[in-house]
Amino acid sequence: MRVCYLTDEPSKIPAIRAMLEPHHLVVPRLLGDKASFGSDGVLMVDADLRVMARVEQIKVTLSELRAVTEKLFVVQKHLHHMVAQAYALGATSIVRSNREIGPKLAQIEAAAKASAAPEANSGTARPEIVDCARAFATMFSAINHDQSIDLSDAERATARVIAGIERDGLGAWLDDVRRYHEGTFQHCMLVTGIAVGFAIEIGFTDFDIKRLGMAATLHDIGKARIPLSILDKPGRLDPKENEIMRQHPAIGHELLKALPDISQEILDGVRHHHEYLDGTGYPDGLSAGKISDLVRLLTISDIFAALIESRPYRPPMPRQDAYKILSDMDGKLETPLVKAFRNVALVA
Ligand SMILES: [Fe+2]
Ligand SMILES: [Fe+2]
Repeated sequence: MRVCYLTDEPSKIPAIRAMLEPHHLVVPRLLGDKASFGSDGVLMVDADLRVMARVEQIKVTLSELRAVTEKLFVVQKHLHHMVAQAYALGATSIVRSNREIGPKLAQIEAAAKASAAPEANSGTARPEIVDCARAFATMFSAINHDQSIDLSDAERATARVIAGIERDGLGAWLDDVRRYHEGTFQHCMLVTGIAVGFAIEIGFTDFDIKRLGMAATLHDIGKARIPLSILDKPGRLDPKENEIMRQHPAIGHELLKALPDISQEILDGVRHHHEYLDGTGYPDGLSAGKISDLVRLLTISDIFAALIESRPYRPPMPRQDAYKILSDMDGKLETPLVKAFRNVALVA
């Protein structure tokens, strides 16, 4: 496969070539060079996205390469705003170390081959996913820069999810998001998709589908303040890390509560999506009478999404197995709702 390697650091080129050639054809370019790349293959961007001048140079190159559909960003520094910036620039996938580049390119190559087969659908991320991820990136980036978020970004992300599901169904949305996105943005897009699918399944009005979709879009916004070393840790969190992670609902609530147009229902969903009916959840240890219907739907969607996520270090859990886990959470979730969720969970 042709790999157009765009970097701000010439000393990185030999190592990338040594790693990828001869299996791939590496076409290196330094940021700011005028030479053209061509438009086939993968564009791999490896630059310090904290430097605005470089971001501007990348934008110029990307505007010349609109025809390239696969944009892989190497985010060496494990920083939130680098990841958010990459997605804001239109990244279709991200790796965080050179070690991850080979496997990721193999995955992209396999998807491209599959899409070339006559029976296959498009092998590239569909526009709703790219745009939805951009909206998440914009919100996370605003928080990382201590700016308040713009609810119109959340509305845009929610609208993209609803449009994607109405057109192709929930199953296709889940598969595509898991194929093209990772980490927190993948999780948020899955939760929103599942919540929207759930709302449609139980006959919500368009207004209520959007309401639940917005709560799902924003439910984990507090994770923008949790270090990536914890968020993306492969494996179990230790008690101290877990304590930090469990702060995200309260952080999200704090980040949103001052926004003029935020509704109480969304604030409730953001703060309480980890509460359980038996009072064993967090952060407030609420019990059944204090947990709203919207929160109950959101919690079921959130747990299911977390179980079926694809992570670099483990395959996604089959939906049947994930549904079984939900069904076995006696006393924590509302049983009739879990039953109603069956059709959503096991959708083709
Ligand atoms: Fe959460
Ligand atoms: Fe979540």
